[in-house]
Amino acid sequence: MTTTPDAPAIAARGLHKSYGGKHSGKDGGKGPKKVLDGIDLAVPRGTIFSLLGPNGAGKTTVVKILSTLVTADAGDLRVGGHDLAADPQAVRAMIGVTGQFSAVDGLITGEENMLLMADLHHLPRREGRRTAAELLERFDLVEAAKKPASTYSGGMRRRLDIAMTLVGAPRIIFLDEPTTGLDPRSRHSMWGIIRELVSGGVTVFLTTQYLEEADELADRIAVLNDGRIAAEGSADELKRLVPGGHVRLRFTDPAAYRSAAVALREVTRDDEALSLQIPSDGSQRELRSILDWLDSAGVEADELTVHTPDLDDVFFALTGGTDQREDVR
Ligand SMILES: Nc1ncnc2c1ncn2[C@@H]1O[C@H](COP(=O)(O)OP(=O)(O)OP(=O)(O)O)[C@@H](O)[C@H]1O
Ligand SMILES: [Mg+2]
Repeated sequence: MTTTPDAPAIAARGLHKSYGGKHSGKDGGKGPKKVLDGIDLAVPRGTIFSLLGPNGAGKTTVVKILSTLVTADAGDLRVGGHDLAADPQAVRAMIGVTGQFSAVDGLITGEENMLLMADLHHLPRREGRRTAAELLERFDLVEAAKKPASTYSGGMRRRLDIAMTLVGAPRIIFLDEPTTGLDPRSRHSMWGIIRELVSGGVTVFLTTQYLEEADELADRIAVLNDGRIAAEGSADELKRLVPGGHVRLRFTDPAAYRSAAVALREVTRDDEALSLQIPSDGSQRELRSILDWLDSAGVEADELTVHTPDLDDVFFALTGGTDQREDVR
């Protein structure tokens, strides 16, 4: 199968997956549990895509299906231009996966874990040693390399895990919660590593519990809820979906504050802080109309700040259990 240059690195259409059902008895006779109920995704090459969703939403299931570890019930699925159902072997050759739960073997050293991966990728001995050494260096594990991995801290184990994923120089990488449990410094250094990979043309599919991480890294974000994609877009597009954006005007002169409060309709007053809050999408047009109002009332604010909803607001709005499905594509 040939790959067209502009084909997405990862594409899914109508992805369905249920667990249980076939093996009666195991699920207490309740029938299959629908986890993915028709998911569509497209991840352009060389970009970072982040899948968000509450615990149990099916993020790991999506990762496992797209990385050939679990088979889908239905769906047209392509990874690296290859059909997952027809050619899983070709897909496997292009991808790397770091699971939510570590693949690190604690009984052997970090270096031995790396060399084992090099063997699995059939790298010649010398090349395997060189790749392992380079990656151990890059992930700041040289000192720990000769110690059993069971003695590593959580952050070291995570780094080793990702280093192991990179041994085969994959072009598409699935990272299932790569920074869970890392301290802020380790998280930032992991972000640096992910950005570096992407600048080298690698495509990254990332799940995370940290909305800030998706906001920071991802070109596109999808929110998975109730078996479906509740919303998909850039971080900015998603933030525009939820209410909560506003402009805040702060005054030091109580008289100016009162005039402004009278002049502007639909404001929330904070008489103690002498500040007014006006619902706004933060657009230039809305800001101008607020400024025009103030001008015509002859008052001047001491401070004007624009507040936009963050991804936490988006997450709560979209995964709150109500059937709010929107699409911003
Ligand atoms: N092998 C399995 N057999 C039966 N049910 C499963 C299996 N794997 C996952 N599930 C169920 O599928 C649903 C989705 O699980 P999944 O691990 O994909 O969620 P997740 O979004 O990754 O959650 P988390 O944020 O906790 O990692 C859950 O209800 C889970 O119990
Ligand atoms: Mg998971």
